[in-house]
Amino acid sequence: MHQEAREERTYPFGAYPNGWYVLANSTEIKVGDVKPFHYFGKDVVIYRGRNHKAHIVDAYCPHLGAHLGHGGTGIVGNNLRCPFHHWQFDESGKCVEVPYSEPQPKACLTHWPMVEKNGQILTYFSADGSAPPCDVPEVPELQGDKVKGWSPSHFSKFEYSAHVQEVVENIVDLGHFIPIHNVEEIPKVEELTFDGPRATLRYTTKNKVLGKIFNAALHLEYYGPSYTVVRVRSMTNVVLIASMVPTSKGKVRHRFHFRMKNMNPLINKIMLIIMAKQIEHDFLGDLPIWEHKIYREHPKLCKNEGGIMKMRKWFKQFYTDTSKTESKPVTNSKSIQLQEVR
Ligand code: FES
Ligand SMILES: [Fe+2]
Repeated sequence: MHQEAREERTYPFGAYPNGWYVLANSTEIKVGDVKPFHYFGKDVVIYRGRNHKAHIVDAYCPHLGAHLGHGGTGIVGNNLRCPFHHWQFDESGKCVEVPYSEPQPKACLTHWPMVEKNGQILTYFSADGSAPPCDVPEVPELQGDKVKGWSPSHFSKFEYSAHVQEVVENIVDLGHFIPIHNVEEIPKVEELTFDGPRATLRYTTKNKVLGKIFNAALHLEYYGPSYTVVRVRSMTNVVLIASMVPTSKGKVRHRFHFRMKNMNPLINKIMLIIMAKQIEHDFLGDLPIWEHKIYREHPKLCKNEGGIMKMRKWFKQFYTDTSKTESKPVTNSKSIQLQEVR
């Protein structure tokens, strides 16, 4: 029998599950900024008006199609001004200013749903236009620039080729933790429960960091397919948001926003670096696998691997686009990018 060629990688579900997705960190979009992005195979622009409110809109002007994020951009008050003929659009997308004529009422910018929470700008993406089945929570430790007892925020960003569902499956794929993540023994799952679009996973593990073994307890709360609040109790306590967003079919941008419970001023900085390195190390382990694997719709699993199929079953609710996803082969795993500490 012929083995599948890597370039034939397909998934038996759509590329873009319905859910909340982080499109940018709040600090990336300052007042007066208009920035271009590419998500879900579409070009979008995120801007922030003088009233500090962020907006996500389709990138192309309804007039003659200029990209609103290139070629001299402009915020006028809270309006977005197109660089081509300087038409202005208000916060509802309505054309309110044409410098040489009356505003054109048929020229309307399409706004995407937007919420700004926990230091990040999110949209709710749905293939069929349905409303979100749940909100994302406010995480107390991640509010504002400073929260007493917690470190400043650290943001990381990774880019790779995979489908978001595979990444969610990965966390309950217990058998890969020893070969890939350098843990001492297979994690012990204490809870894996599902409640509509929400899921909860608790597990314990023994991590090796700088040659030493640390017990760790992880508590993950899933809010749909791509937004997870994680609390880690180990050598210190960490709270983080793990989020993914497809940029196009089979391409993922993965972000972490985390803070660490302060220990003492001398150790804090070192610990923050160690934690960041640990996250980076974990990702570097998974990436070559994700980028070069195929998706097995009917995997030959062994005993104790049932969590993978439970995750798959839960994930089905997020697809209203039933088309199959084909993704192009990846060239290498050097697309990883790391971002700033703040
Ligand atoms: S193309 Fe945008 S104002 Fe003309
Ligand atoms: Fe992994």
